[in-house]
Amino acid sequence: GRTRVDYILSNSDLVGQIVTVKGWARTVRIQGNGSFAFVEVNDGSTVKGIQVIVNNAFPDFSNLKGTGISVSCKGLLVESPGGEQSVEMQVQDPSQHEFKIIGDCDQTAFPISKKNHTPEFLRENAHLRTRTNLIGAIARIRNALAFATHMFFNSRGFLYVHTPLITASDCEGAGELFQVSTILKSKVADIKQKDGMVDYSQDFFGKPAFLTCSGQLNVEAYCSALSDVYTFGPTFRAENSHTTRHLSEFWMIEPEMAWAQLEDNMECAESYLKFCLQYAIDNCYADLEFFDKFVEKGLIDRLRNVLEKPFARISYTEAVDIIHKCGKQFKIMPQWGDDLNSEHERYIAEEVIKGPVIVFNYPKVLKAFYMKVNDDDATVQAMDILVPKIGEVIGGSVREDRLERLDQMIQFKNLDKESYWWYRDFRKYGSVPHAGFGLGFERLVMMVTGVENIRDVIPFPRWPGHAEF
Ligand code: 4AD
Ligand code: MG
Repeated sequence: GRTRVDYILSNSDLVGQIVTVKGWARTVRIQGNGSFAFVEVNDGSTVKGIQVIVNNAFPDFSNLKGTGISVSCKGLLVESPGGEQSVEMQVQDPSQHEFKIIGDCDQTAFPISKKNHTPEFLRENAHLRTRTNLIGAIARIRNALAFATHMFFNSRGFLYVHTPLITASDCEGAGELFQVSTILKSKVADIKQKDGMVDYSQDFFGKPAFLTCSGQLNVEAYCSALSDVYTFGPTFRAENSHTTRHLSEFWMIEPEMAWAQLEDNMECAESYLKFCLQYAIDNCYADLEFFDKFVEKGLIDRLRNVLEKPFARISYTEAVDIIHKCGKQFKIMPQWGDDLNSEHERYIAEEVIKGPVIVFNYPKVLKAFYMKVNDDDATVQAMDILVPKIGEVIGGSVREDRLERLDQMIQFKNLDKESYWWYRDFRKYGSVPHAGFGLGFERLVMMVTGVENIRDVIPFPRWPGHAEF
C-alpha cells in the first residue's frame, strides 16, 4: 500500500508513524559529503511533494541521480524543523525502512528538468508536462470544476444526458465542422499495397456526418420530455483560429431548462459560475495559492470579488452605446448590428464593469437560427457572459418555440429546413418555452486559474495543425 501525500500533509496525527510514499522525484539534493539526500517526492495529490531524507545505507542510494525518477519510500514521519512544510519523512534505518528506485530517468535526455520551461516548450512535450507543478495544479482544478458542475446541476434536479459526438446536424449553423470519414479495414490492406496511397471514403458509411459543434439540439430533445437537463462533453469547431481563447476541440457544459425565460437563464448561468468559483476556493485552496503566486498576482481576491456582487446586465444596444460614448479609439467602431469583437468585449468587462457582465438581446443577424425573436423582430433573446481578460465564457438564449417563427429564422439564415426536420418536430408536438446556455469549460478553467493561454488548461490541446499526442 501507499499513503497519499495530501493525506499525510493534512493529518498531523500521522507524525511518529511509518508510512509508504510512492511518486516521482521533483528534486534530489545530495548532502553531507554524500551521506544523505533530500528528495522531494510528488505523487500528484498536491502542489508540493513531501521532503524525504534518505540515508546512504540503502543500496539504491548510489543510483540517485536526479529529477524524474520514480521511487518508493517507507520511513518515519517527523515534524519538520524548518522548511515550508510541517512534516518530512526520514528513511534512515534499512532494518525498518525502505528506499527503492522503481524507474530510472536518463538525466541527459529527460526534457522536464527542474528549471523553468516556456509554455511553448511544454506544449511540445504535452505527454511529459504532466510532471510540472503548473499542469498538475490545472489537472486538479479541472477535476474539481467538473465535479462541481455535476453537483450544481444535480442539486437543482437536472438530469445529465450523453449527447452524441457524431451527427449530421450543424447546431450553430456556422459551417465550422469537421467531417467524419470511414476507412474500411479492407481498404487499409489495399492502402499498404499501393505505396501508402490513402483512400479515405468521404462519408460515414454512405451518409455525411460531422463531429458535433454543440450538444444543444440533442439535449433539447430530452428537455422537451424530462424538463431540466444538461450535457457535458467534447465539442469541435473547424474555425481556423490561432488565438489564446480558441481550440479545435473543447469541452462544453450545456444546460437546457423547460419553461425558462431569459431571466431564469441568466440566474442559472450566474449561480453556476459562482458555485464553481466557490467550490474551487473551498476545495482547491493550495492550488489557488500556487496560481496566485506564480500565474496571476491577486487571483484569490479577484475570485472573491466576483462572488460578492451580482453580475452587471446590459443590453447589446447599451453595449454599443458605451463603446461610442467612452471616447476611446477602437480598431473597429461597431455600428448597431455589428459583432462585438474581443477588444470591445474586454473593454466593457475590464474597464467599464470591472467584472463579469451579461450582455443580452443581440441583433438577430448575429446569432444562431434557434434563438427566440423579440417583438421588435430585430433582436433575439440571447445572452452572453463576458469576463475580464477572457471575453465570452458563456453563450445562451431562449429558444424559438413557435414553429412558424423558427421556420422564418431558418430561411433568414439560409439554412436547409429539411435537415432540421427532427428539431422542428419538438415545435409540432407539445412545444414548450425553454432556454439554455453553453459554458466553454476551458474558459472557466482560465478564469479560475488565471492561466492566459487556453492551450495550457486542457490536457492535450488541439488547434489547427496540432493533434500529435
Ligand atoms: O457561443 P457558442 O458557440 O454557443 C453554443 O454552442 C450554444 N449551442 C450553446 C448553448 O446555448 N447550448 O459556444 C458556447 C461557449 C462560448 O461562450 C465559449 O465559452 C465556448 O463555448 N467556445 C469555445 N471555447 C474554446 N474554443 C472555441 N473554439 C470555442 N468556441 C466556443
Ligand atoms: Mg457565442
